[in-house]
Amino acid sequence: MIDRATVDRILDATRIEEVIGDFVSLKRRGANYLGLCPFHQDKNPSLSVSSTKQIFKCFACGKAGTAVSFIMDHEKLSYPEALKYLAKKYGIEVVEKEQTPEEIAARMKGESLLIVNEYAQKYYQQLLWDAGRTHLIGLSYFKERKFTDETIRKFGLGFAPAGGKSFAATAKEEGYKEEYLVDSGLVIKRDDGSLSDRFYDRVMFPIHSLSGRVIAFGGRILTSDKSKAKYINSPETEVYVKNRSLYGIYFAKTAIANKDCCLLVEGYTDVISMHQAGIENVVASSGTSLTVGQISLIKRFTDKIIVIYDGDAAGIKASIRGIDMILQQGMKVEVVLLPPEDDPDSFAKAHSREEIEEFIATNKCDFITFKTNLLLKEIDNDPIKKAQLINDIIESVSVIPDQIERNVYVGMVASRFDIKEDAVFQKVRQLRSRRNSLEQSRSRMAQQDYPEPPAEYIPAGYDENVPAAESADTPDQPLTDAFLAVNEKEIIYYLLKFGEYPLHTDDSLRYDRNAAPADVPTVAEYIRKSLEEDELQFENPVFRKIFEEYFAQPHEKEADCEVAQGKIIRFFSTHPDQNVSKTMMDVICDNYPITVKVYRDSLTPEEQLLGKNVPRVVIAYRIKVIERLCAATVKEVDAAFKRGDGEACKEKMRLLSALNTVKNNLLHLQASKK
Ligand code: CTP
Ligand code: MN
Repeated sequence: MIDRATVDRILDATRIEEVIGDFVSLKRRGANYLGLCPFHQDKNPSLSVSSTKQIFKCFACGKAGTAVSFIMDHEKLSYPEALKYLAKKYGIEVVEKEQTPEEIAARMKGESLLIVNEYAQKYYQQLLWDAGRTHLIGLSYFKERKFTDETIRKFGLGFAPAGGKSFAATAKEEGYKEEYLVDSGLVIKRDDGSLSDRFYDRVMFPIHSLSGRVIAFGGRILTSDKSKAKYINSPETEVYVKNRSLYGIYFAKTAIANKDCCLLVEGYTDVISMHQAGIENVVASSGTSLTVGQISLIKRFTDKIIVIYDGDAAGIKASIRGIDMILQQGMKVEVVLLPPEDDPDSFAKAHSREEIEEFIATNKCDFITFKTNLLLKEIDNDPIKKAQLINDIIESVSVIPDQIERNVYVGMVASRFDIKEDAVFQKVRQLRSRRNSLEQSRSRMAQQDYPEPPAEYIPAGYDENVPAAESADTPDQPLTDAFLAVNEKEIIYYLLKFGEYPLHTDDSLRYDRNAAPADVPTVAEYIRKSLEEDELQFENPVFRKIFEEYFAQPHEKEADCEVAQGKIIRFFSTHPDQNVSKTMMDVICDNYPITVKVYRDSLTPEEQLLGKNVPRVVIAYRIKVIERLCAATVKEVDAAFKRGDGEACKEKMRLLSALNTVKNNLLHLQASKK
């Protein structure tokens, strides 16, 4: 371990433009530098290096980070190795120090969660097979679904029964620490301190990492009771990051590489049935729409994806959404639609391996054919609709990064719709240059001078009334920690990325970040004040720590808020608590799912929308807190009523009505911010 003082000396000496300049030729642009990004095939300089913030960001591929993370990624070094590299470059002597127990503990946390998950997998598996108990319902469920013993064992399937001793109690007796049981998400701690299982009365599907370790579970109910969630999944943890996990990847990776093709299906049972039929290059996105992280996981093994979704409307919609994203990642995509009554699971069960392969081979179609067939039905010779369809397809073509490949598709579109190739080319060029200039104007804005953006351009998907983020996919989750986590995370995002910026209410294009009137608070001041007014404290321990340390730090006045924010970024990105530094890096790298994300994809740079968005996320958070208080109070009213305690009942009712008033006021406030 390198001690903190040395780390500080290294970072003090480090100039990111010099570090990156050793690998990339950088040209000065205002306060920043521009160069060709070394992390993707860059033709126009898209890598922007900020010497004030000491961070870099590629506007084309999205890669971003600090000098240290650049060296880590570029030279494939670990964090301490990267620090030593920089120390050598700047002639600083490195003193290594012993790891403290806390540091070891932090490093062990992920390992502990994996151990808990592994234990849980064995536990649930045991209960599935244990004939001594009355639990054979789990096994017979899988048998009914025609899973063979071999398949059930291969995927490590299990059963969490309804009654009997809980997993929580058993695991505690076995010596597993309560903290890790709770952090793994398998056990839920109630407000009164008692423990309950997240999963019961469900068959269990362990989710494996690329290297085959159990990182999470999905649990399915055994009935078709529509009032309950069909699946409950583990929450995100240090070891389970949903948008970077794919169900089945461990079992599929060799086959994907060998076949140089990955089949993408929707669900757990689809993957399992395909395997059982002998087709092993299959993974599932598990109900969520495909993410860039998931695509890059596949990209390690192949650049060809065949999407196989149900032939029903939902399946078709899901495949359309995935296509452009896959194309954009420079991968080749084809689509297979199953007969409308089938999903991959039922189809795989009803057919032999040869039949399935044959079906895929004859029915797979490129995305142009797929979209054409799909939309052609709706067209009925309406020339306007036809033009829309063609534009839609050309839009997909235009996102393909490789020029040669793009041109092949241009030819296809032209011949399919009987239009001149030149016209298609021109449209593609137009779309690309519009996107490029958009990117450039965005990157130029990031470099401090703000050009007038093209006035008529309204970005696709721009919507003032951004809906709240989809709520967690575990609807029967109790109203505890995770309930608030999304909102807390949003506030942390603004704090870490823009805390020192003024909370400008002027979102005009002449916005000048350092010319705010003196009485305009910074984003951080605004957040602190709003939370303190309500005496609110974050529940997530990492977020709370960040919040507290943010304000505990000495804040020297800086003339430029970007410089001030650069110091904040440095402080948190090198924080000894890895949960804290990782959160900071995720914010820099845009790995944060923010409900106002649509704004981030819009033309207006995010910092100009602070005056609008920061109050929005704070209000959304306060509403959530009140909602939970209401729910708890309702329970108390109920309990008092059952006890026959009229006084308490009345008092709680009064409290409830007061809470509702506050909530309504907040809802009004929220509506007025739209
Ligand atoms: N899913 C989820 N939560 C739900 C519903 C679905 O996480 N409430 C995810 C699961 O990963 C599931 C996938 O979405 O496997 C696809 O959903 P669906 O097609 O409804 O489930 P199947 O896998 O087909 O399951 P089954 O065949 O048992 O109905
Ligand atoms: Mn199914």
